[in-house]
Amino acid sequence: MAKISAPAALILASFLFIFCYASTTVSSQPSNSSDPFLKCLSSSIPSQLVLTPSSPSFTPLLRFSIRNPKFFASTTVRPLYIVTPTNASHVQSAVLCGRQAGMRIRVRSGGHDYEGLSYRAERPQPFAILDLSNLRSVRVDAPSATAWVDSGAQLGELYYAIGKASVQLGFPAGLCPTVGVGGHFSGGGFGMLLRKYGLAVDNVIDAVLVDAKGRLLNRTTMGSDVFWAIRGGGGESFGVVVSWQVRLVPVPPKVTVFNVAVSASQGAVDVVTRWQQVAPALPEDLFIRVVVQQQTASFQSLFLGTCDALLPLGTCDALLPVMRCRFRELGLKMNRTQCQEMTWIQSVPYFYPGTGSDGTTVEYILNRTTSLSTYAKMTSDYVRKAIRRDAWESIFATWLARLDAGIMILDPYGAAISNVSEHETPFPHRAGVLYNIQYVNVWFDGGGGGAAQFKWIREFYAFMEPYVSSSPREAYFNYRDLDLGENVVVGNVSSYEAGKVWGEKYFRDNYRRLAAAKDEIDPDDYFRNEQSIPPLGLGNNK
Ligand SMILES: Cc1cc2nc3c(=O)[nH]c(=O)nc-3n(C[C@H](O)[C@H](O)[C@H](O)COP(=O)(O)OP(=O)(O)OC[C@H]3O[C@@H](n4cnc5c(N)ncnc54)[C@H](O)[C@@H]3O)c2cc1C
Ligand SMILES: *[C@@H]1O[C@H](CO)[C@@H](O)[C@H](O)[C@H]1NC(C)=O
Ligand SMILES: *[C@@H]1O[C@H](CO)[C@@H](O)[C@H](O)[C@H]1NC(C)=O
Ligand SMILES: *[C@@H]1O[C@H](CO)[C@@H](O)[C@H](O)[C@H]1NC(C)=O
Ligand SMILES: *[C@@H]1O[C@H](CO)[C@@H](O)[C@H](O)[C@H]1NC(C)=O
Ligand SMILES: *[C@@H]1O[C@H](CO)[C@@H](O)[C@H](O)[C@H]1NC(C)=O
Ligand SMILES: *[C@@H]1O[C@H](CO)[C@@H](O)[C@H](O)[C@H]1NC(C)=O
Ligand SMILES: *[C@@H]1O[C@H](CO)[C@@H](O)[C@H](O)[C@H]1NC(C)=O
Repeated sequence: MAKISAPAALILASFLFIFCYASTTVSSQPSNSSDPFLKCLSSSIPSQLVLTPSSPSFTPLLRFSIRNPKFFASTTVRPLYIVTPTNASHVQSAVLCGRQAGMRIRVRSGGHDYEGLSYRAERPQPFAILDLSNLRSVRVDAPSATAWVDSGAQLGELYYAIGKASVQLGFPAGLCPTVGVGGHFSGGGFGMLLRKYGLAVDNVIDAVLVDAKGRLLNRTTMGSDVFWAIRGGGGESFGVVVSWQVRLVPVPPKVTVFNVAVSASQGAVDVVTRWQQVAPALPEDLFIRVVVQQQTASFQSLFLGTCDALLPLGTCDALLPVMRCRFRELGLKMNRTQCQEMTWIQSVPYFYPGTGSDGTTVEYILNRTTSLSTYAKMTSDYVRKAIRRDAWESIFATWLARLDAGIMILDPYGAAISNVSEHETPFPHRAGVLYNIQYVNVWFDGGGGGAAQFKWIREFYAFMEPYVSSSPREAYFNYRDLDLGENVVVGNVSSYEAGKVWGEKYFRDNYRRLAAAKDEIDPDDYFRNEQSIPPLGLGNNK
C-alpha cells in the first residue's frame, strides 16, 4: 500500500512521535515530608501513586507524555509532585488535598498541549500534576453504538477498541493516535470525519467530572451549563473530566483514501484557490484536506464510499453521478492507482504513518512510545472568505519558499460541523467558516532554539491578517498559542476582562457564557492556568 509520500508527511511524522515511556509503573515511595499536601494524600491515596522529585521515577514519568522538548528544558517551571490516580476516588482525594493544602493542580491526559500547560507553568509557582495515564479504559458497546472512554486513553486506543468491536463503527476525532482523550475532547476535537459527523464533542452524551469541591458529578448533577462548558471550553477550567460517554458513528465497511500531490509548476496555486470553495461545499461523505509544504500541496482525502463513485473523471453532465461531478470541479488529476479502499480503522495509520510504521499495521496506533526530538511551534486561523489567487501566489512564492518555512494544514469545514448553532457548544467556528488553517514549524536540537521558525510563524501570521477572520480573529482552542494572550491574575482570581484578548479568539461570544459556567463550578478559580476561563462575577470587578 502506498504511503503518504509528500515531504510534509515526513516532517509531520517526526513531529507526531515525540515521546512516550514504555511503562508508567511507579515503584518509589514519596519522601517523608511535612508538606501538608503530601500529608493529606498519605491518608487517602496509596503512597506509590504519589511522586516527589527525589523519586527515581519522577523525571521519567514527567517526560512520559511530553511532546515538545521546548518544555523539558532546564529553565522549565516543573511540578513539585506528580499524582497518578488509578481510580476516580484518587482524583477526588487529590483535589480535596490540593484545596486544603493550597496546592494547585494541572491535569494531564495525553500531554499534547501545544504550550505544555498540562505539565509546566509559564512563571515560577508551586503546583502538582495529576497525570491520568493510568486511567485509560475504553468500554465499547457495539449494539448501542456507544462507548465510555477514560480521559487518560489515547485516541489510538479508542479507535482500536471501536475497530475491534465493529468494522462499521467509527468516531470523529483527531488524526494523531497519541493525542489524549482528556484534552482533545474538552477542547473540541476534529479529524477526517468532521464534515460527516462534526467534532468529538458533538458526539459526547455523558461525562464524569470531579469538581473543585471534590464531588463526582455526571451530566445531570454537574448541571447543563457546566456540561455545555466542558464540551469545547477546555476541561482545565472546570475540574477534572475522568471519563466520557460517546456516540459512535456508522462508517461503511470499506472507505476510500487518496493523497494526491500537486506542485506549484503543476498548478498548485489554482487547485488550492478552487479548493477553498469546492471542498467546504462537497457532499458530506467527501473530506479533502490540504497540507502545503514548500512548493507542493498534498490533497489528503477520506471518502465514505467506493472508488467507483469518484472515478473515472468524465465530463460533468446530467449522466455523471453527483459525487463524481462535484469532485471533478476541484480539477485534481487522479487515476485509479491513487485511489485505495480499506476499512475505516486501516485509514487511521494511513493518514498518520509515523516512525516505525509502514502505514498498514493497525496495531501501531496503540504505540505510546515516541522520541523527544522535535521542537514545534503552532498557531491557527479561520477563513470565512476565500483568499484571492494573487495572495496564494505570494504565499507560495514568498512565505513557503523561505528557508525556514513551516507548513500549512487546511481543514475544510461545512456540512455537519457547520450545521449546528455556534452556541450549541463553546466551539463557535461553525456556519460560514470555509476552513481552518494550522501553521506548523519544527526544528531540532541545535537549531538555534527555533528563533528562525518562531520568526517565520509570527511574520506569516501578521501577513495573513487581511485574509482571515476578523473581529475577532478566530483561533482553534486545541491549537493553543500563548502568543494570543495570557491570563492576568488580580487578587487571587484570573481577570475576565484581561482574558477577553485570547478568550474571544477561541470562543467568540461563548467566552462570556464559559465565564458564567466557571462562576457556577469554580468561583474561587482553583483550576487555573495561563489560558483558563476566568470566573465572570469576581473577575468582572477587576
Ligand atoms: C501531534 C499532534 C497532533 C494533533 N492532531 C490534532 C487533530 O488532528 N485534531 C485536533 O483537533 N487536535 C489535534 N491536536 C491538538 C490536540 O487536540 C490538543 O493538543 C489536545 O488538547 C491534546 O490533548 P491531551 O490530553 O493530549 O493534552 P494535555 O496536554 O494532557 O491537556 C491539554 C489541556 O487540557 C487539560 N486537560 C487534559 N486532560 C484533562 C482532563 N481529564 N480534565 C480536565 N482538563 C484536562 C490540560 O490541563 C491542558 O490544559 C494535535 C496535537 C498534537 C501534538
Ligand atoms: C516522618 O517524619 C515524622 C516527623 O518529621 C516522623 O514522626 C515519622 O516517623 C517519619 N516517618 C517515616 C516513615 O520516616
Ligand atoms: C480506588 O482505589 C482504592 C485503593 O487505592 C480503593 O480503596 C477504592 O475503593 C477505589 N475506589 C473506587 C471507587 O474504585
Ligand atoms: C447521574 O447521577 C444521578 C445521581 O446519582 C443519577 O440519578 C443519574 O441516573 C446519573 N446519570 C445521569 C445520566 O444523569
Ligand atoms: C497514476 O498516477 C501515478 C502518480 O501520479 C503514476 O505514477 C502512475 O503511473 C499512474 N498510473 C496510470 C495507470 O496512469
Ligand atoms: C513503538 O514505536 C517506536 C518508535 O516510535 C518503536 O521503536 C517501537 O518498536 C514501537 N513499538 C512497537 C511495539 O511497535
Ligand atoms: C444538518 O441538519 C439537518 C437538520 O437537523 C439534518 O437533517 C442534516 O442531516 C444535517 N446535515 C449534516 C451533514 O449533518
Ligand atoms: C481567593 O480569595 C477569595 C476571597 O478572598 C477566597 O474566598 C478564596 O477562597 C480564594 N481562593 C483561593 C483558591 O485561594
